[in-house]
Amino acid sequence: MQVSSTDHLTIGEVTRRTGVPASALHFYERKGLIFTTRNGGNQRIYERHMLRRISLIIVAKRLGIPLADLAAAFATLPGDHAPTQEDWQRVSRTWKRQLQERRQILENLEHELTGCIGCGCLSMKACALLNPYDTLQEDGPGPVRLQDPPRRNPSRRATRR
Ligand code: FES
Repeated sequence: MQVSSTDHLTIGEVTRRTGVPASALHFYERKGLIFTTRNGGNQRIYERHMLRRISLIIVAKRLGIPLADLAAAFATLPGDHAPTQEDWQRVSRTWKRQLQERRQILENLEHELTGCIGCGCLSMKACALLNPYDTLQEDGPGPVRLQDPPRRNPSRRATRR
């Protein structure tokens, strides 16, 4: 598979290099995650550095990271030239807190998978102790004990964990 050695790639070259279909590239462009210019024939042209953005989108999708979070992280990157290492370090700092929160949720899930997660099912032995009569529903919907940070109803804090 041949890819242009220039700094400008056609959509076919980007698709071959990244494995991302053209329709998805168009979608990412509409979402402001990547940018293109047009050549004389009105065809999309991708700066080579967009490959890095697209690769990060692929990884983020695998990890279940919302594209909106990625867009916020990319918002500080220059759109008209290749980001410098300092640019990427700035993005990394912005994104780090979100990744740490996500990691904490995954760790909580790993630890709580066999215990009560506060979802209202009351199907585990631990539910009677950790979520008696589904009292955690007062803290909000969903698996209350897996939220990060955990949702707290101060009036019942003493009954948690
Ligand atoms: S696991 Fe669902 S309420 Fe305990």
